[in-house]
Amino acid sequence: MGKFFMAGPWITDHEIKIVEDAMRDGWYENAYYYVETFQKEFAAYHGRKYGIMTPNCTTSIHLLLTAIGIKNGDEVICPECTWIATAAPITYLRAEPVFCDIDSIHWCIDASSVERSITSKTKAIIAVDLYGNMPNMDALIAISERHGIPLVEDAAEAVGSMYKGVRAGKFGIGSVFSFHRTKTITTGEGGMLLLDDDNLYERCMFLRDHGRVAGIPYYNSEVTYKYMPFNLQAALGYAQFQRIEELVDKKRELFYKYKERLSNIEDIYFNTEPEGGVNGVWTTALVFGKSHNMTKKQAMRQIEDMGLPSRPFFYPLSSLPAYPEYEAKYKDKNLVAYDISSRGINLSCAFNLSDEEIDQQCNAIRKILGRNEAR
Ligand SMILES: Cc1ncc(COP(=O)(O)O)c(C=O)c1O
Repeated sequence: MGKFFMAGPWITDHEIKIVEDAMRDGWYENAYYYVETFQKEFAAYHGRKYGIMTPNCTTSIHLLLTAIGIKNGDEVICPECTWIATAAPITYLRAEPVFCDIDSIHWCIDASSVERSITSKTKAIIAVDLYGNMPNMDALIAISERHGIPLVEDAAEAVGSMYKGVRAGKFGIGSVFSFHRTKTITTGEGGMLLLDDDNLYERCMFLRDHGRVAGIPYYNSEVTYKYMPFNLQAALGYAQFQRIEELVDKKRELFYKYKERLSNIEDIYFNTEPEGGVNGVWTTALVFGKSHNMTKKQAMRQIEDMGLPSRPFFYPLSSLPAYPEYEAKYKDKNLVAYDISSRGINLSCAFNLSDEEIDQQCNAIRKILGRNEAR
């Protein structure tokens, strides 16, 4: 009991066949065949003009923030609760991450907190589609347009999600996806930046490959990054992408199994799926309502005592040692983030999870909440 994983991919013979093809023939004139095909088709699927594959999603964010000119002294707004990869590239550029509160229902960045955080130094707003949930994009777009501050969508966790009929990945000047080994579509490590603007695209392509001047071999006009993707990695991504509907359906199936099994427990909250929206549910998150008096720390320890894994809801970034001295500034400001995060955990989202393993986790939740009755 308890030997299952928190996350992991679904790889079939299809992926093996495509990767084998890349291994045999993906060289010489085909050296970027899968990179280009994957970029093009992934972008088109999301209604974007351009796709730029990168070694991971963190580098996609770094590339985009660099391209829009974020620099020392600028402020970039992002949510308190997200993986640190959203904020780290702001820090790489010596700019200041400004952490905003999250919404108590969808757990993504709260638009009114964004509005209150804007100063003359604000140069970008990064919204995150947390656990596949979507923020209030209408409000964020309105703020971005009113203040003339570019909006960036971190859709790392949102393959398959939709907001009012529009796919996650189509919001703001650019969006980013992660193909980390734990994600819905995986390349082990990998990322994709999606754009519509021609100039931004040219700039990002230039920044991705050592600032080479097009048409002049070995001639560089700026010192930039080396964030090039690899054809084998792209072949795996492309093969997974060809199965995107099947992969998202499976994620949603896992989510609804958890929800159904725990449906007779009141005052617990899951990923949201508002009307007109679709949640791709990269991972199932569970927030204990206050009536349960259950913190994530207590829950995780008790679940671990039963021999089962779980993960914490993302910590408020300002509470982490990685951002020393931020807690004092944000703890009393980002009250929802501190509160929700303290009561939330993630359940396993591994593609190979069995029904018995879902039952084990649901029984564990029931037990720690003092509900022993079968469903
Ligand atoms: C919200 C968010 N942003 C960015 C990233 C970074 O992705 P990667 O690990 O591919 O750099 C992740 C992935 O873990 C994420 O969850």
